[in-house]
Amino acid sequence: MAALVVIGAQWGDEGKGKVVDLIAERADLVVRYAGGANAGHTLKVKGQKLVTHLLPSGVMHPKVRCVLGAGMVIVPEVLVEEIKTCEAIGLDVRPRLTVSGRAHVTFPFQSAIDRASNAGPRAIGTTGRGIGPTYSDKAARIGVTLRDFVEFETPRARDAIAALVEVWSHRARAAGVEAPTLDGTLAYVAPLAREIAPLLGDASVAAWTAVRAGKRVVFEGAQGTLLDLDHGTYPFVTSSNTVAGGACTGVGIGPTMIEAVVGITKAYCTRVGHGAFPTELHGPEGDRLREAGEEYGATTGRPRRCGWLDLPALRYAARVNGLTALAVTKIDVLAGMEHVPVCVAYEVDGATVTDLPVDALDRAKPVFEQWEGWSAEVAHARDEAALPKAVRRYLARIEERVEVPVAIASVGAEREATIVRREVFTR
Ligand code: GDP
Ligand code: IMO
Ligand code: MG
Repeated sequence: MAALVVIGAQWGDEGKGKVVDLIAERADLVVRYAGGANAGHTLKVKGQKLVTHLLPSGVMHPKVRCVLGAGMVIVPEVLVEEIKTCEAIGLDVRPRLTVSGRAHVTFPFQSAIDRASNAGPRAIGTTGRGIGPTYSDKAARIGVTLRDFVEFETPRARDAIAALVEVWSHRARAAGVEAPTLDGTLAYVAPLAREIAPLLGDASVAAWTAVRAGKRVVFEGAQGTLLDLDHGTYPFVTSSNTVAGGACTGVGIGPTMIEAVVGITKAYCTRVGHGAFPTELHGPEGDRLREAGEEYGATTGRPRRCGWLDLPALRYAARVNGLTALAVTKIDVLAGMEHVPVCVAYEVDGATVTDLPVDALDRAKPVFEQWEGWSAEVAHARDEAALPKAVRRYLARIEERVEVPVAIASVGAEREATIVRREVFTR
């Protein structure tokens, strides 16, 4: 068995797309298991750029099978659009795509209310992709699955859609916005259902069969550890389980099938949306990181908040995900600094702790060390020996403090700007 989970170890946008694309070169199957079109995973290959929101980031490899699991929420028109974007650049996705009929559908009325409730003091600063409303309806057992969506002409599915529309028309009237109607909703469903119907299948069987046959399977996380509904900085989180365990529930496989978990981290930190970010920089240093790292959201275009690397947060990610390896991205972005500040501990209630005080972030004070910086030549490194000594020391210190080996170092956005230091697949 060789199932590998790749997750974001921070607040999302760590470079999961780039790393999964790289790993997928030797994979048979890449599976998304949680979240939806709130994700934006950027792939840069031979000058071509592709941002995936729903499709797995293995899509650029023509032989890789792509699977979307039951734990996902799907905006149907985004899925169809994304398939067409791939087709326009010569990637024939449909024959190698399986989408779980158990995944839930996000309707336009759910996205609209997500966007409308994104203001005020308790706002989360969501991506506006209807994630919270769709997962809430799923948990309340009034959601519409993709299977219902494509079978909209059957009485069973039509009833499910009608019941959801009924609930939302009350909500819309209460919120003073236009209420959805059943006829309008069915007119929206029909053309999309025809496109999506041939893609539906059993994601659990697809993943299980591949793992059992000894194929290389990658489970691609979306968002990041600190955005996890249970283990993130609640309530400033997304509405799904982004941690590695989410792969089991989101796909329908058991934990015994997972052999390795790779956590992706930037060489610094970013966060989009509201919520705790103890190492955040508010002045020109943060602006410098944002410009050098092109830190603007791949889904919403919002400027990302920027700050220094947080090792206690990585230790936390190592624990809640069971990390077996780290990938450190965007090392090139820090080039040219004499010293790189790194948060190595927190002071909280008079004590110094090296694990993230996740329940006391409001009063925790980061403790920084100044690590030696490196020069711009790092961007040209393609093997370990070509990495500046200061970078090798920097990675060694991360390994020592987080107690997880750094398997991959990324020094640019392109696929080949990567140093694979050790094998991530177990075989
Ligand atoms: P994801 O959501 O985790 O897949 O990450 P995003 O794609 O949202 O954001 C990561 C951004 O950093 C993208 O624009 C990538 O092209 C870019 N990127 C990834 N790795 C590197 C790297 O090592 N160096 C630089 N300069 N950019 C990188
Ligand atoms: P990828 O997969 C970064 C953030 C939003 C907001 C919070 C809740 O590209 O790393 P939601 O729309 O999910 O209800 O928003 O989560 N968020 C992300 N931040 N990267 C992402 O995905 C994100 N997906 C959601 O900004 O703070
Ligand atoms: Mg992203």
